[in-house]
Amino acid sequence: MQEIKFYSGENIPLELHKVRIVQKLNLVPIERRLQALFEGGFNTFRLSTRDVFLDMLTDSGTNAMSDNQLSAMMRADDAYAGSQSFERLQKAVEDVLDKKYLLPVHQGRAAENILSVAYVHKGSLVPMNYHFTTAMAHITDKGGNIAELLYNEAYVINSDHPFKGNMNIEKLEETINYHGPKNIPFIRMEASTNLIGGQPFSVQNLRDVRAIADKYKIRLILDCSLLGENAFLVLQREEEFKNSNMETVIKTMTGLADICYFSARKLSSSRGGGICTDSLEIFKELEAFIPLYEGFLTYGGMSIREVEAMAVGLYETLDETVISQSPSFIKYLVEQLDKKNIPVIKPAGVLGVHLDAMQICAHIPQTQYPAGCLAAALFLISGIRGMERGSISNQRDEYGNETYADMELLRLAMPRRVFTLSQVKYVEDRVTWLYDNRHLIGGLKFVYEPPVLRFFMGGLEPVNDWPEKLVAKFKEDFGESL
Ligand code: F0G
Repeated sequence: MQEIKFYSGENIPLELHKVRIVQKLNLVPIERRLQALFEGGFNTFRLSTRDVFLDMLTDSGTNAMSDNQLSAMMRADDAYAGSQSFERLQKAVEDVLDKKYLLPVHQGRAAENILSVAYVHKGSLVPMNYHFTTAMAHITDKGGNIAELLYNEAYVINSDHPFKGNMNIEKLEETINYHGPKNIPFIRMEASTNLIGGQPFSVQNLRDVRAIADKYKIRLILDCSLLGENAFLVLQREEEFKNSNMETVIKTMTGLADICYFSARKLSSSRGGGICTDSLEIFKELEAFIPLYEGFLTYGGMSIREVEAMAVGLYETLDETVISQSPSFIKYLVEQLDKKNIPVIKPAGVLGVHLDAMQICAHIPQTQYPAGCLAAALFLISGIRGMERGSISNQRDEYGNETYADMELLRLAMPRRVFTLSQVKYVEDRVTWLYDNRHLIGGLKFVYEPPVLRFFMGGLEPVNDWPEKLVAKFKEDFGESL
């Protein structure tokens, strides 16, 4: 990646794109935001963008699309079967991910459903570097279980370990021996491990996992949703690839997996998803599930326009100036917050900035969901919408007991090429104010808890009047400012 130095010596990321289509944002008064929180059950998923200023909920389906993606959408060849748009997508998957066979699906979790339907049974165990919410939900839904096998370093918030997403190889072999390879339908490796702060694994680690998979004849499945970013960090951090390029790193990684799947909402800044493989046998095992759950084999539940946008978006993941924008803004914000000793996950990863609610809200017990409280409080005082990635996002165990998360994080996603640096400075400013007033943040309790993936639609309420007190302090400090 070519470095761009400022004469002033200032070290800030520089946008290598221009903005040609814009969308107006609303910054509504704090009183309206308080009302919106009550209406939305103190759950940021249930807010309307009418009330949101900076939407940092996710990068899923919210990355800015390129001019080339938008223009490709216009040539969509709408056909139920045999669309030429699908042929272009197949070609892109072959060129970028180096896999011959593609099964299209409507988004990432649809791939997880199909892989679980095909391979997971009651008593199955799926070892993985770390779970993702939907991947785990589909595996447990089919009667399986998961084993998360990271090194201890992965759970250290203030770390300089370059690859906290690495699979613990010793534990992987132990787990396989303990449960028996026959009960392990596949090993799942997630690129840029989402729930522990967007932390990558190294290519060497993936090679080591492949060696174990070969030894015990177990399939290796790679979740490629954040593969571009993982590859970008490999270029930055893994000695062997210092002078390499995105294409080589991506192909090296996908070449080690039997099956790759992805959410195109992330990987290619579009919508949709896919499962791909070089094995005709695997393709045949999975093929019949596509028309059953998704749609015909040449659209998989996606609009054909999205199929075109996805093909172009896949090629664009090979462009370092596209992929580096979000991680460089994340790094900037992490460094600014870290300078003020505000606890954030380090080293800076991908997807977003992750605030450590366990430390920031140390006065709130995990039974009252500190990360959910921090998410609600930040929205209240700033209009910034983040996502709780803590115990609310965890699912209850098979006996209905709460399982408390290893980490209580507030994720502030940085979708690709969406925010400007002054908006990022606003985030820094309001997070700093909230940190200085963190003693005013209080707990939450569930009033409505859905049985599956409760974090999406669950409803909570504050345990006392802390939101009103926070509003009063905001008014004291900011007066009539929004
Ligand atoms: N795998 C990973 C690593 C993901 O981050 C996601 C989605 C999925 C699978 C599921 O894909 O949403 O297309 O069904 N992550 C989003 C997020 C939702 O906000 O992190 P999907």
